[in-house]
Amino acid sequence: MDFIPVNEPLLDGNEKRYLSKCIDTGWISSEGPFVKEFEERFAAQVGRKYGVAVCNGTAALDAAVEALDIGPGDEVILPAFTIISCITQIIRSGATPVLIDSDPETWNMDVTQIESKITPKTKAIMAVHIYGLPVDMAHVLALAAKYDLRVIEDAAEAHGQSYLGKPCGSFGDISTFSFYPNKHITTGEGGMIVTDSEVLAESCRSLRNLCFLPQKRFVHERLGWNLRMTNLQAALGLAQLERLEEFISRKRSMGTLYQSLFTDLPKFQTPLAETPYAENIYWVYGLVLPKEAPLKADEAMHWLAQKGIGCRPFFYPMHLQPVFQKMGLFSEESYPVAEYLAEKGFYIPSGLALREEQMQRVTESVFDLAREKLT
Ligand SMILES: Cc1ncc(COP(=O)(O)O)c(C=O)c1O
Repeated sequence: MDFIPVNEPLLDGNEKRYLSKCIDTGWISSEGPFVKEFEERFAAQVGRKYGVAVCNGTAALDAAVEALDIGPGDEVILPAFTIISCITQIIRSGATPVLIDSDPETWNMDVTQIESKITPKTKAIMAVHIYGLPVDMAHVLALAAKYDLRVIEDAAEAHGQSYLGKPCGSFGDISTFSFYPNKHITTGEGGMIVTDSEVLAESCRSLRNLCFLPQKRFVHERLGWNLRMTNLQAALGLAQLERLEEFISRKRSMGTLYQSLFTDLPKFQTPLAETPYAENIYWVYGLVLPKEAPLKADEAMHWLAQKGIGCRPFFYPMHLQPVFQKMGLFSEESYPVAEYLAEKGFYIPSGLALREEQMQRVTESVFDLAREKLT
């Protein structure tokens, strides 16, 4: 029985050709020409003026938080249900993260809970588009305007998605992306910062390159990092970007096929196909066991793994992370929807290389699981 991996990328466009060009010309570092081309084309694709390519999506968020001068005395609002990449630089900078619970239908942050958490110290809202549907951005942008807050938009999982027809990645003062291989387009490891502000773009470029003073190399007035993307990664990125529309329509048809195959699946919650502001692009296809189910996501994933089906757990909420509990953060805080999603949610094979017959097998195994464990 073949194992069906949770994700496999498609690399059968111009990837090899562009990579060979790097090798033939000797341009393999971040100084190579593909980096600039990838930045420009990617930024244009989301309607932004500037793109700054970096080594991964976490680095993009780190630079975004630092570029916005977030630090001691500041509060940043973000979802409890997300990846740790969103919160680490907020904490390292000395600022205070303020968490918001999830909407039980979209799994994104519940925007109706944000306003009550805004204080005179709030400096920014980090909106994170999760699993294929965007955050309700109109609400976030209205609050940002009302309280003069910055918006960081984490679109790591949302290439090719839009909110009311406008691309995800076009909403933040700074917006960020990841190109990890499970994303819609990949560079192996990689990330992108996009913005319309020349000042912020320049700041991110400097932070990416150790904050060398342009006029005096090896002299520094600020602490940065080495977050540079190589020409090899950008070569992959360009080849992938050429196919973004095709990839998104493929993900949409895969998601729609799963939706129809799971129509009669008892009890499980499946992703919302659409909201008033967006159609799902099914970055991953999530399943959530019912509250009263006698098993947790871990057990369901283990059961499916034995049938040759690769799965991944949902995010583990920030307030429950041992590292933050040790730091005395979020004690006594509770975010019931995030906790429920973490305990009962997981996703099934959803990568671009997945074939229809594999999806049929995944579906049959999930039905078997439901019959054996939930009835
Ligand atoms: C929402 C979100 N933000 C940030 C990241 C971090 O990206 P990377 O893995 O490229 O560091 C991810 C990665 O999966 C993510 O899903």
